[in-house]
Amino acid sequence: LNVQRRYLAATIAFFGAAALVGCGPKETTDGGGTASPGPATSPAAGSADSGGKKFIIGMSQANKGEPWRQAMNDQIAAAAAKHPNLEVKFADAAQNNTKQVQDVETFIQQKVDLLIISPNEAAPLTDVVAKAYDAGIPVIVLDRKVNGEKYTMWIGADNKKIGERAGKYVADWCKKNNKKPCRVIELRGLEGSTPAKERGDGFREGIKANPDVQIVASQNADWLREKAISVSNSMYQANPNVDVVYAHNDPMTEAAVISADTAGRDKSKILFVGIDALPTPDGGIRSVMDGRIGVTYVYPTGGEQAIENALRILEKKEKPEKSLVLETEEVTKANAESLLTKYGGKK
Ligand code: FRU
Repeated sequence: LNVQRRYLAATIAFFGAAALVGCGPKETTDGGGTASPGPATSPAAGSADSGGKKFIIGMSQANKGEPWRQAMNDQIAAAAAKHPNLEVKFADAAQNNTKQVQDVETFIQQKVDLLIISPNEAAPLTDVVAKAYDAGIPVIVLDRKVNGEKYTMWIGADNKKIGERAGKYVADWCKKNNKKPCRVIELRGLEGSTPAKERGDGFREGIKANPDVQIVASQNADWLREKAISVSNSMYQANPNVDVVYAHNDPMTEAAVISADTAGRDKSKILFVGIDALPTPDGGIRSVMDGRIGVTYVYPTGGEQAIENALRILEKKEKPEKSLVLETEEVTKANAESLLTKYGGKK
């Protein structure tokens, strides 16, 4: 229970919703398929700024099984709890595109006032997002993208830039440690999700700063820690010399740390690079402090900004900018402790 409380407190505080710690915001439903339309939900004809008009937001999450996505949901719930006229219905697609399409279809049928979606993969979700948008439902796309322009706004961090910073860090580390060549293995996110491509492309840009850096193997582990255990294991078997592991998120980096032990590698000689930097007890910032991960990058969930912009759209009838790019930070041993505090984690 204690750990759960600390986790909730840390995730709520992640990117600034600290005021709500202890209020115990809850996800109101789970599964667009089971949520019934609330009686207070009337079509979008309601007057602007009408105090008391209730708005229903449908939140379609790609996969709640991952800690970063739970943090996103917690942050949305916490931000929405400050506004009693907002109700958020959560649906979890469990990393299944077909299920996520159905979840969005259900929200369309229910005539939600606004849709927030973090799409599992871009192509399979593009049409249904366009369908919601064409039906007059404002759509906020969070973190992963869809194709085309049929949505109201996108909120997320610049994954290409994060990848590039990681690549530059690796280029530098290889130089400082005199690794020639400097052999990198890459664990990639789910193929059809946009951050996987962007983080991969950006990294390749970044390492150009040092021609001794070589990506000797690159494989998908779909963002999943469990899958990354076996994938990284076979990568170590096939590559007797590995200097750097670049994984597209922290759970996959942690998996590669574990399988380095299994493969009998000297971890002190390997740089482990991740992305996400959650301020939770199992998160990336703590891992850098403890010396498992060498460097990671803050990847904000954007949950709080999604609610802020939902209110702009629904209450103020504003038209927000098409894309809102969130800041990132590099987390190293030197700043990990202060960043843990900054993002609301407990020491
Ligand atoms: C969770 C996650 C995060 C990652 C993000 C990219 O599903 O894999 O770890 O940063 O998605 O969309």
